[in-house]
Amino acid sequence: MASLTFRPYLDRDERSWLRCRLLSFFDTEHYDDVLVSRPAYDLPVVRLVATEGAEVLGLLGVTIDATTATIESVAVHPDHTRRGIAGRLLCGALPALNSHGASTLDAWTRGDEAANRRYRAQGFTERHRYLHVYADAYAREAEVEGFTTPEGLSSPVYAFAHAPVEREAEMRARYRRVHVCRQYLRELPPDIGAGPREGGCAVVRGFQREALVRPAGRGAAPDRSRPSRRTSARLRAGARDRATGHGPVRRR
Ligand SMILES: CC(C)(COP(=O)(O)OP(=O)(O)OC[C@H]1O[C@@H](n2cnc3c(N)ncnc32)[C@H](O)[C@@H]1OP(=O)(O)O)[C@@H](O)C(=O)NCCC(=O)NCCS
Repeated sequence: MASLTFRPYLDRDERSWLRCRLLSFFDTEHYDDVLVSRPAYDLPVVRLVATEGAEVLGLLGVTIDATTATIESVAVHPDHTRRGIAGRLLCGALPALNSHGASTLDAWTRGDEAANRRYRAQGFTERHRYLHVYADAYAREAEVEGFTTPEGLSSPVYAFAHAPVEREAEMRARYRRVHVCRQYLRELPPDIGAGPREGGCAVVRGFQREALVRPAGRGAAPDRSRPSRRTSARLRAGARDRATGHGPVRRR
């Protein structure tokens, strides 16, 4: 039987990567977050996979925007959870994040216990909550009342919007599908990945350089003296948060 291997993502992994992600989301609140090609980011990204033979059993993608790193995807094949795969993937990414100048790592997820416990177990703390609200005219026609569309289009069939968490009861009364989305944060001290708390990291050391992929034309070292585009967007979103409770736009 092939052994479990941790390594950087390769282009030939794409189909298996997509299948693993799809299956892992199947029983979660992200069940319809389906991708049919691997997303490209206009940011440096650390991409790791756990494989057995040619099959991807776990995946992690983390973008780095100046000092803030964000987990864009973490997923483990449902037949292989609780083997420490997600934990070791993150361990493997930490030194690369650090060496690229990231000092905080954030993650966004809904209510699934596995993901929330996984983040807390690995030193993340919750910083912010807001609502993901789906309106679906097929489920209940009244759900799309109040939404408008440009001339020439019918009223919407579906809609997706954010709402402040304080309005959860009201939103749940009006819409059948409402998720509480949480932002988790973790500081990344300079020696991250070396401490005893990261004991499992030894398994996945040794490929930090290959794991980091810079987008074409952005090979230069990041300018850490100014806020990144994403940090600026978050600061704006933060300002909005205080007024309305809405969070920044995230896939999850
Ligand atoms: C969340 C996820 C990535 C965890 O992967 P994993 O490889 O099983 O995690 P690890 O084995 O490294 O860590 C296990 C720890 O995570 C938590 N955990 C994992 N699965 C759990 C479950 N089904 N129920 C409760 N806690 C769970 C526990 O803290 C567990 O520690 P324990 O086994 O000592 O109790 C995996 O369950 C998954 O892919 N879920 C669907 C996709 C998803 O939700 N992604 C993240 C948010 S977008």
